[in-house]
Amino acid sequence: MCGIVGAIAERNVVSILLEGLKRLEYRGYDSAGVAVLDAQGQLQRVRRTGKVQELADALADNPIKGSTGIAHTRWATHGGVTEANAHPHFSTARVAVVHNGIIENYQSLREQLRAEGFHFSSDTDTETIAHQVELELKSTDSLLTAVQRAVKKFHGAYGTVVIDQQNPDSMVVARSGSPLVIGLGIDENFIASDQLALLPVTRRFIFLEEGDVARISRTEVHIFDQDGNEVLRPVHDSEIEHDAGDKGGYRHYMLKEIHEQPTVVRNTLQDRLTQSGVDPRIFGALAPDLLAKVKHVQIIACGTSYHSGMTARYWLEQYANVSCNVEIASEFRYRKSFVHPNSLLVTISQSGETADTLAALRLGKELGYMASLTICNVPGSSLVRESDLAFMTLAGAEIGVASTKAFTTQLTGLLMLTLALGQFNGMADNDQQKIVGALHSLPAKLEETLALTGNIEKLAEEFADKHHSLFLGRGDQYPIAMEGALKLKEISYIHAEAYASGELKHGPLALIDDEMPVIVVAPNNELLEKLKSNVEEVRARGGIMYVFADKDARFESDATMRVINLPHVDSVIAPIVYTLPLQLLSYYVAIIKGTDVDQPRNLAKSVTVE
Ligand code: F6R
Repeated sequence: MCGIVGAIAERNVVSILLEGLKRLEYRGYDSAGVAVLDAQGQLQRVRRTGKVQELADALADNPIKGSTGIAHTRWATHGGVTEANAHPHFSTARVAVVHNGIIENYQSLREQLRAEGFHFSSDTDTETIAHQVELELKSTDSLLTAVQRAVKKFHGAYGTVVIDQQNPDSMVVARSGSPLVIGLGIDENFIASDQLALLPVTRRFIFLEEGDVARISRTEVHIFDQDGNEVLRPVHDSEIEHDAGDKGGYRHYMLKEIHEQPTVVRNTLQDRLTQSGVDPRIFGALAPDLLAKVKHVQIIACGTSYHSGMTARYWLEQYANVSCNVEIASEFRYRKSFVHPNSLLVTISQSGETADTLAALRLGKELGYMASLTICNVPGSSLVRESDLAFMTLAGAEIGVASTKAFTTQLTGLLMLTLALGQFNGMADNDQQKIVGALHSLPAKLEETLALTGNIEKLAEEFADKHHSLFLGRGDQYPIAMEGALKLKEISYIHAEAYASGELKHGPLALIDDEMPVIVVAPNNELLEKLKSNVEEVRARGGIMYVFADKDARFESDATMRVINLPHVDSVIAPIVYTLPLQLLSYYVAIIKGTDVDQPRNLAKSVTVE
């Protein structure tokens, strides 16, 4: 979603801002812009619809220079994709703002501001911020005070950065619901919605808390909480690799991230999984006490992260002997639900900033869950900071919009959570040994599976002219079928549905014909014979199948069925291993179709609005 970068320095900051925007491109956007205060103290701005490169070309043709500046990539919410709606927005020639999130009461604010004589030149909610700040500046010289007063009028979510022509030595930033991170330099400081944007210029960061307003100059940072008290927030050294934004020789980030999975799963296991299991403290200092009391788990997530939660339910109930519910965050937060006794609220999120998941966590606290745990990939993110316990997946920065390595590392963490909860709930010794052994073998099995890349690339050719597809799985492979279908639809734009294959004859069989490829995930588990019956149901209706099967599952390729054999793995880790061929299939279908793999249309990486 939208990205923010700001800088205040002695040098010209335009190239820093542009590089920051490029590093935020992965979040998804449809226009971009930069504004600076130039040497004469005037606001200068360039905006373009389309890619950041178009903005860079425009800046090359008509350079602007300044040592205080803000920049933005916009993902349209209020108002179409036009240059007039792109940020930064100005109020007269004095105030410039960039904003992530949504000001929900912008219509009524617009009317009030119009009545005050302000003229609107865009359809955005953001422009109200600029005018409101300028209105407040009529009664104070301090930009900080003006922003503090203005934000009190806003309902909704915002991460915003404001610069003022008459306060050229500082920028003021405010956070409520949309993350912002201050980057600390030497005699220069920065602001961004994601630390990745600033890694070329600093590795020292302060994460703003909800309600914070900060005044940032070249040499000083002053942060005030929502009551206006000056506060100190800790400085973190970033652990993200500096080259996280490089494709490392791969054609796309997504392909790089698919191939990183053996390594990042190994990293996620390292120092956490021993020969006998896991120490509960890997979930946080309070985990031994809290996990010992857990009798029920409520998992909340969105999208791909929701699929990892669905998979975990099979593990938690089968092996850890705790009951588990899984729900999409946007549903959970708007219905009445019951809290089971001794219930642990588990949120799962790559970004840690997904608006619905965060809102569900906050609601969960009000509802009285015993404790909260997040499985998350971004240190310092809102979910990590607001949860009692956190397990960090060590996937590294995930840039491709379609989540891949975050998913498999989440599953790895959730299987370790199964081990930890199982310790307190009578997990059978042989199950414990089986899961530990299977997890130790996982990185190597993922490597073996990636060796099938060439076969899957060829297989993709058979999908490129199709408009629909059906993914089938049973048991803990049903969520994997859902994840496979999500990957295919989001990057190749082919309509894909997933069904638990036992449901076939309750409706979807009516869809089967030779134009509807059916993808089956078939590890050698206790449901294999049942799955084979479902395969026969498809065959009898003339369906064409692509079966990802265990070597020992005895599927044979024939005129109606292509079988791709995967290495033999213990069934407990099969959901993780069988994810990889489905990711590769989607990737290569998208390549043949020529879609924008890393930034598929209409999608954003981190969904920070509801
Ligand atoms: C799909 C995808 C999304 C995210 C979802 C939740 O490939 O990436 O479905 O999984 O938007 O995002 P996080 O995990 O950041 O909460």
